[in-house]
Amino acid sequence: MNVLILGSGGRENALAWKISQSPLCTKLYIAPGNAGMRTLGENLPISVTDFQAIKTVVIEKKIDFVVVGPEDPLVEGVYDFFKNTPEISNVAVFGPSKEGARLEGSKEYAKEFMMRHHIPTAGYKSFTAENIEHADAFIDSLKAPYVLKADGLAAGKGVLILPTAEDAKREIREMILGQKFGMASTKVVVEEFLSGIELSVFAITDGKNYKLLPTAKDYKRIGEGDTGLNTGGMGAVSPVPFADEAFMKKIEDTIVRPTINGLYADGIVYTGFVFFGLINVEGTPKVIEYNVRMGDPETEAVIPRVESDLLEVLYAATQGNLKETAFKIDQRATVTVVLVSGGYPEAYEKGKVITGLENVDQNSIVFHSGTKISEKGDIETAGGRVLCVTSYDNDFRNALKKSYKNIENIHFEGVYCRKDIGQDLMKY
Ligand code: AMP
Ligand code: GLY
Repeated sequence: MNVLILGSGGRENALAWKISQSPLCTKLYIAPGNAGMRTLGENLPISVTDFQAIKTVVIEKKIDFVVVGPEDPLVEGVYDFFKNTPEISNVAVFGPSKEGARLEGSKEYAKEFMMRHHIPTAGYKSFTAENIEHADAFIDSLKAPYVLKADGLAAGKGVLILPTAEDAKREIREMILGQKFGMASTKVVVEEFLSGIELSVFAITDGKNYKLLPTAKDYKRIGEGDTGLNTGGMGAVSPVPFADEAFMKKIEDTIVRPTINGLYADGIVYTGFVFFGLINVEGTPKVIEYNVRMGDPETEAVIPRVESDLLEVLYAATQGNLKETAFKIDQRATVTVVLVSGGYPEAYEKGKVITGLENVDQNSIVFHSGTKISEKGDIETAGGRVLCVTSYDNDFRNALKKSYKNIENIHFEGVYCRKDIGQDLMKY
C-alpha cells in the first residue's frame, strides 16, 4: 500500500524508518518530512494542517493509508476531514477523531473524562474570566507548589508550577485576563501537585482493543539534573526500570483499560496512539496528561523496540482487526539522546552544517528532528532539536555508552546535549 506520514520531527523519522521496512509498504511519502527521511521515502512540501493540499496529494499519489504524527492536525480534525470528504473517505487514517483529540486539546475535557471514568489523576478546578474570583480560595485550599495549566494547546509551554500561593494568584490572572498563552489560557485548570517520578506509557488502539507499546522515560528539562527550562524532550530510556510487572498491572487495570473502555462507552471514535503521561505517587500510578499521539523523543526509543510489522499493526487497528494481530516487542533496552541547537529552548540559530554523520557506527541509529538539505546539498540544522541518537543493549547503561560514543562523531556549531540521560535510573 502507499503510505503517507504527516510530520517532520524525530518521531516521524522513527515511524518512517520502521514503516519503510514493512513488506506491505509499496511507496512511502512524508509531509513535510526532513533530511533524515528523504532516504526512507519521498518528502512532500506540505504543511500538516493544510488539509486541502493533503487531500490533493492523497488523490494524486493514490495514498491508501495516512499515519498522523503530531497533535495539531488531529486537534484540528484531520480524521473527520478525511471521513467527511467523499473522494478520500475510504483512505484509512491512523489518528483519533477531532472529539478524541480533545483529550490533548483541552485539559479540562481530559479531566472531565478522567472523572467520569474514575481514572486516578490530580484533583482540580477550572477557571475562566467568569469565575476567576473563586480561584484564590481554591488555590488557598491546596498545598504548595501550585500547578496552573492553560486549557488549550500552548506548544508544550502552557503549564506553570509556582512555589507560592501569591505567585499562583498573580499568574492565573496573567493567563486568563492577560492572555499569557493567547486563547489557550482563557480557561485555566488549577491542579493539586503530585510528587513522584514520571513515565510515559503508550497504547495503539482501535477504540475498543489495545496493544501496549514499551514504556519510556523522557527528560524534559534543558539542563543536567533536570534543571532549567522545559524543552520538547532531551532524551529517553525504554523500558522504564521501575515499571515492573506489578506496577504495569496497576497501570493497565486502573488507567489504560478504563481509558479505552471510556472512549468506547462515550462513543468517541478513536483509532490511534494514546500517550499516557503518568506519575508514580508512592506506588500508585496517576495520570498527569493524555496526548493523542506518540511522544517525541520517546518514539525514537520505543519504536525501534517493536519487532512486529508496525505498518500491519497500525493498519489493522483502522480495520478493527487489532485484537487478532500479533505484536512482539524486542526485550533489549533502548535509549535516545537528543542533540539540540545552542540556545534552545530559547532563541537559537539555524542553518549550521552538520558533519560526521557518516562516522556513526552500526551500534546507533540517527533519527533527524530539525534538519534540512541546503541549496549546496549539505545537511543543515533547521530547528531546536536537531538529531536523536538511539542505541540498543541488554542493559540501558551500555546503550547510553554507545549513543554518547557516537555523538562524539557528530558536529555542528553550538551543538548541545544532556550528558546525564538515564542517570536517575541507575539505582534501579
Ligand atoms: P503537562 O503538559 O500536563 O504534561 O505538564 C508538563 C509537566 O508539568 C509534566 O510533565 C509534569 O512534570 C508537570 N506537572 C503537570 N501536572 C502536574 C501535577 N499535577 N503535579 C506535578 N507535576 C505536574
Ligand atoms: N516528550 C514529551 C512529548 O512528546 O510530549
